[in-house]
Amino acid sequence: MAHRIGYLIGSLASDSINRTLARALVRLAPPSLELEEIPIRGLPLYNRDDELEPVEAVTEFKRAVESAEGLLFVSPEYNRSIPGALKNAIDWGSRPWGHNSFARKPSGIIGASTGAIGTAVMQSSMRSVLSFLNAPQLNAPEAYITFRPEVFGADGEVHDEGTRDFLAHYMEEYGAFVERVLSLTAPGHVGDR
Ligand SMILES: Cc1cc2nc3c(=O)[nH]c(=O)nc-3n(C[C@H](O)[C@H](O)[C@H](O)COP(=O)(O)O)c2cc1C
Repeated sequence: MAHRIGYLIGSLASDSINRTLARALVRLAPPSLELEEIPIRGLPLYNRDDELEPVEAVTEFKRAVESAEGLLFVSPEYNRSIPGALKNAIDWGSRPWGHNSFARKPSGIIGASTGAIGTAVMQSSMRSVLSFLNAPQLNAPEAYITFRPEVFGADGEVHDEGTRDFLAHYMEEYGAFVERVLSLTAPGHVGDR
């Protein structure tokens, strides 16, 4: 049976290039993966006062992360770091203490930017965050995408063969990584730290 992968898009923009990249990844994913977005748009700003009785959007978000077998973060880089909206979602998902929704979720990080280094610095920050949250990460291949509109169609078609092959390879490797991690993860441990 296909593994259920939740993907989080780190941009709220309606014309997000990372949403376009995510569409391409969904198209190019191997049949062993079933990808569904975990939206972050409706989350309030994280406030520790509300941790124990959060609004429904937070409960739903945590439930979606916990029910996914793996996570894929598709995000821009903002000012050489993680966009606030995505970090906010991660902060909610990590709390309250002892109920970290990200623990042991096999995770991939990929992103597109209009700049030359293709979200490399954001990805480096994400690696620290996900390490702290005990989420195993695909280390290689790394995927730093400089977005070119002539390469990516709005519906996720990829017009350049080299880029298409690279992204398909990334998703193959991510799928194999998910398999490896899930085969090593004992049931009953998901959700603890
Ligand atoms: C607040 C802000 C900060 C940005 N900082 C970076 C940056 O550090 N590195 C980079 O490559 N691009 C940066 N950009 C440009 C983004 O790569 C570009 O806006 C991209 O379209 C954002 O992705 P999105 O379309 O998925 O929202 C920044 C854009 C904004 C709005």
